[in-house]
Amino acid sequence: MKTVFFICILLALARKSHQASFYRTYECVNNLCQRTARPLSFSELGDISSNNIYTTVAACRLVCSNTAGLWPLPTGSLETGTNYLGVHPSNFRFDMQDVASGARPFVSQSTNIFLDNLRPVCDEDCTMRQSTVMVHVKVNSSNLNLDWDTNEQYTLNLSTKGNNVTVIIVAMTAYGARHGLETLSQLTAPIITPDGGRGLVILDFAVIKDKPVFPHRGLLIDTARNFLPVTDILRTIDGLASNKMNVLHWHATDSQSFPLEIKSVPLMTEFGAYGLDKIYSAEDMAQIVMYGKARGVRVILELDSPSHAGAGWEWGESIGYGKLAVCANQQPWNQFCIQPPCGQLNPVNLRTYRVLRSIYKDVLEIWGHESVLHLGGDEVFLPCWNSSVEIISAMQERGMNRSEEDFLKLWGEFHSTQVQMLDQERNSNSISAIVWSSHLTSPDIIENHLDKKRFVIQTWVERSSPLPRKLLRLGYRLIVSTKDAWYLDHGFWGTTTYHTWRDVYNNRLSRQEGVLGGETCMWGEYVSPGSLDARIWPRTAAVAERLWSDPQRISTADAEPRLEGQRKRLKYLGISSDALAPEWCAQHPRQCM
Ligand SMILES: *[C@@H]1O[C@H](CO)[C@@H](O)[C@H](O)[C@H]1NC(C)=O
Ligand SMILES: *[C@@H]1O[C@H](CO)[C@@H](O)[C@H](O)[C@H]1NC(C)=O
Ligand SMILES: *[C@@H]1O[C@H](CO)[C@@H](O)[C@H](O)[C@H]1NC(C)=O
Ligand SMILES: *[C@@H]1O[C@H](CO)[C@@H](O)[C@H](O)[C@H]1NC(C)=O
Ligand SMILES: *[C@@H]1O[C@H](CO)[C@@H](O)[C@H](O)[C@H]1NC(C)=O
Repeated sequence: MKTVFFICILLALARKSHQASFYRTYECVNNLCQRTARPLSFSELGDISSNNIYTTVAACRLVCSNTAGLWPLPTGSLETGTNYLGVHPSNFRFDMQDVASGARPFVSQSTNIFLDNLRPVCDEDCTMRQSTVMVHVKVNSSNLNLDWDTNEQYTLNLSTKGNNVTVIIVAMTAYGARHGLETLSQLTAPIITPDGGRGLVILDFAVIKDKPVFPHRGLLIDTARNFLPVTDILRTIDGLASNKMNVLHWHATDSQSFPLEIKSVPLMTEFGAYGLDKIYSAEDMAQIVMYGKARGVRVILELDSPSHAGAGWEWGESIGYGKLAVCANQQPWNQFCIQPPCGQLNPVNLRTYRVLRSIYKDVLEIWGHESVLHLGGDEVFLPCWNSSVEIISAMQERGMNRSEEDFLKLWGEFHSTQVQMLDQERNSNSISAIVWSSHLTSPDIIENHLDKKRFVIQTWVERSSPLPRKLLRLGYRLIVSTKDAWYLDHGFWGTTTYHTWRDVYNNRLSRQEGVLGGETCMWGEYVSPGSLDARIWPRTAAVAERLWSDPQRISTADAEPRLEGQRKRLKYLGISSDALAPEWCAQHPRQCM
């Protein structure tokens, strides 16, 4: 009898499910959104948010808990409402009268991006239009520089009268206003409407004060080991912007390939690109830089040197320039470099600098606004230079011998010459050069080689290493890429181990002065456009909260439901993040631990 009864219920449910008249529903219990014990029909549900029962977990998170599900968490005050109203992307209005005139085109573009990002969540088939949202944006400064001194703070007040929602976003700069709009987009959520259609809701109240802890919050991508089409790079920028990250570190060239079009030196790509379809034209580069800037993301270019350079540099002798790179493709490779193919620029050939200068001139046409260039500077393999008769005899002529000290001197001079050339090309002496930590940056010798006013060190050592602390004590500024936490390629080659989003999230940086921030590193040897998103996300979102908010008392268990929400937001941007856990765990928070 009982069995028959259950079968009847199941059949009834199955039929209803076919007609989409019952729904997977969520309720707020102890500030957590969990699936209701049984699905409910709309007649049981009532209005869009009555009885504290919700048709999407995103809508539930908006009002359940005191964080509105925001990612990354704001660092200042945060008050949020407990109700929401139906809204539609076409019901947003923007008032930019109080935006400084120089910042107005940027902010106007930001509002368009805001709406473009909202439309995939809710578009023509979204039926709810009950409320109108008036967004007043106030920006004091016309300055559009995006650098380590940019003020990114904002406040966001959202209040409701009847069906009228008023939002006030106040920021010093256009970039702060942009972050405020990013937060506003997170105060909306998709729902399922009583007629089974789609809808969008907006929270009815919020007071948020927010600014980042670290000014440099980045991700490295590598387009030299494997080429990444422009669309994949742009999509990655969308993801960074959604997480209020502000740097895309573009490791563009390496010994394997040179994919950047250099109009004044076309031989670089003729020799160095993997194929004609694997070149970033000057227009592509400009597009990537502009796309990033409009989203508050600086694109910092890295042209790796003097090591990790071979492809693209092979043609010197054929036109009488001599050897621009030494040990290029030399075998057995492990005697001349860390990873095949080998190649290191020739620091004693004046033509090498002349070609570098042309390259800098070309890229500065695109990056002229940027005061930072990454020079690489990692893994110079001294036995390579030491195997070149040309280099050894040039050193001897200068009274240098073949000691390690003298090779390091040569290496340090190479970087100083690069900075001098950049100064000359930019007509200023304000450029900051970033170099990776290396032999040359050992605390006992770095001051002999790298001027701390001009060089920023990107450390890539284990958490336990004292190097960052020692360099800070010497007065160097740092960007930290903790190798045993933020190397996203680990776990896919050799004996490296995968770092889960929890490892990533739990890696805290020192807040000492001089720490500019950090970057996750998506080295490209074993990644393709097809796997890129899942390697980068959601782990780089975890870093985003570490760098923006650096929460002190939030465990990964506390963070997980919000991060799950952020994964969904990335999905609307077309980003296929990796899974955090079986979906059941997201529907039943804290029951999978
Ligand atoms: C904006 O600028 C005005 C006038 O320069 C100043 O009085 C005001 O304090 C500034 N607002 C903020 C938020 O700094
Ligand atoms: C935002 O709300 C807070 C708290 O109610 C208030 O102190 C502040 O003045 C408001 N800001 C604006 C710009 O309305
Ligand atoms: C909402 O805004 C409309 C148009 O601006 C106005 O006519 C109406 O009175 C407002 N309603 C409330 C409750 O403030
Ligand atoms: C090499 O030169 C360094 C100084 O640059 C000197 O200290 C060292 O003794 C020299 N070594 C040899 C083997 O000449
Ligand atoms: C360079 O090679 C010479 C000859 O093999 C050797 O004596 C010297 O130690 C080498 N220098 C370095 C820095 O390895």
